[in-house]
Amino acid sequence: MYNDNPTIKDLPKVVDEAKQGEVFGSEFAPVQPGTKQFYIESYGCQMNFSDSEIVASILGEAGYGPTRDMEAADLILVNTCSIREKAEETVRKRLRVFDKVKQRKPGTMIGVLGCMAERLKSKFLEEEKLVDIVVGPDAYRDLPSLVAGAEEGEKGVNVFLSREETYADISPVRLQSNGVTAFISIMRGCDNMCSFCVVPFTRGRERSRSAFSIVAEATDLFDKGFREVTLLGQNVDSYKWENPESGEVVNFAQLLTMTAAVDPDLRIRFSTSHPKDITDDVLYAMRDHENVCKYIHLPVQSGNTRVLELMNRTYTREWYIEKVNRIYEIMPDCAISSDIITGFCTETEEEHQETLSMVEFARYSMSYMFFYSERPGTPAARKFEDDIPLAVKKRRLTEVIELQTNISRELNAAEVGKTFRVLIEGDSKKSDQDWKGRTTQNRMVIFPKVGQHQPGDYALVTITDSTSATLFGYEVQPGSTRTNG
Ligand code: SAH
Ligand code: SF4
Ligand code: F3S
Repeated sequence: MYNDNPTIKDLPKVVDEAKQGEVFGSEFAPVQPGTKQFYIESYGCQMNFSDSEIVASILGEAGYGPTRDMEAADLILVNTCSIREKAEETVRKRLRVFDKVKQRKPGTMIGVLGCMAERLKSKFLEEEKLVDIVVGPDAYRDLPSLVAGAEEGEKGVNVFLSREETYADISPVRLQSNGVTAFISIMRGCDNMCSFCVVPFTRGRERSRSAFSIVAEATDLFDKGFREVTLLGQNVDSYKWENPESGEVVNFAQLLTMTAAVDPDLRIRFSTSHPKDITDDVLYAMRDHENVCKYIHLPVQSGNTRVLELMNRTYTREWYIEKVNRIYEIMPDCAISSDIITGFCTETEEEHQETLSMVEFARYSMSYMFFYSERPGTPAARKFEDDIPLAVKKRRLTEVIELQTNISRELNAAEVGKTFRVLIEGDSKKSDQDWKGRTTQNRMVIFPKVGQHQPGDYALVTITDSTSATLFGYEVQPGSTRTNG
């Protein structure tokens, strides 16, 4: 989920997932009278949304309850993203709105969290006069004392990046939850140096969380009625955790197997996979466990070897093609999705054509597509000129979006007539007479409520119709596959 790029609005599938500035509210945690309240908005990737749940837990311990009403809040927080310029512009605009609240209600504290806080550090306090605290992704444990300091009129900054922090012992407060699907952060940071990317600078070195704490969190979620967990990291395939007691090392394939064993009715997803690191062992673990979803987000970024080299992705076009072939060979029914950047420094029309042909070849079920946005301080910004005119970047992006939409439409149309086990997530957005759920391949399915079901149930659905973003169908033997409740 990357939610700053207006062009992705063209793709309905992406919009489904791209919630702008999600607000966490108080519905799930009633606030005691007299309790101080915080309001939080989150931008950027799922890691940030997951971090906001950790922040809520830390603030809860310090006596703060969540509110959906920013006017009522004592503390307004914004968890920020730096991935593209647009993401930062969005945050600056929101800060103008928070400023107005503060002017009406002096004493309201404003805190900036996340990647933009990390990137700009104390400069933020100079640029944004009404901000009270600036806290980077590894310093959230320090929030209560920074807030206490700010209450005394002392502005605070903590952007220390840790080599160890994984927040493994903190039980996230599931704030914006549908009660069925949840995210579990399994690692933090990134050690890859993709030349366009700001993440290694804002999130620091890669470190993996204890496998036991991950399995315990998955088990706890299952016991609470959740039926799907997504294991999160910038590069999950390089997950590596050494048990300090036995010295045994757990890799990602083993972690998948461990979480799959929690319960056959708990679906396991994961994101993101770096093509260079996804191993056959991971593919076999997926194949061998029915409840590990047959869906891989495998960002290609570009279809051209020279551009991939400039991007420092460390694979070639041919190598990526081999990887895709291997996935389809081991799991013929697996869906693959991608991230794509158009108009990277020096990209020619021919090289852009190779990105288009890659989309065609890989048959992505969907893609997150962006035009290149130079980020200060990244290797690309230091070494290469951002020389592709904006209009060209955008035109190339439109071409990729159109092609991807057509492929998504074709792939979805090919599902008509097939029957899938769908995990019901809740009411469809358009009608409370319909359920919405997903197939193992992560395709959204809408079907009429006929049987006795509740969110978290599995239903067998035969597909009758489709668009580029959604499948429609009816339930076979309504109610017969109820597995919980
Ligand atoms: N860790 C993930 C991606 C994290 S960032 C991975 O390696 O795949 C999500 C996506 O944002 C990237 O895959 C890339 O497509 C896009 N992105 C990152 N930096 C960008 C930039 N400077 N301009 C445009 N898109 C960018
Ligand atoms: Fe960025 Fe590359 Fe790390 Fe992904 S793998 S977060 S694109 S540096
Ligand atoms: Fe954005 Fe930071 Fe995620 S830059 S994409 S919020 S890791």
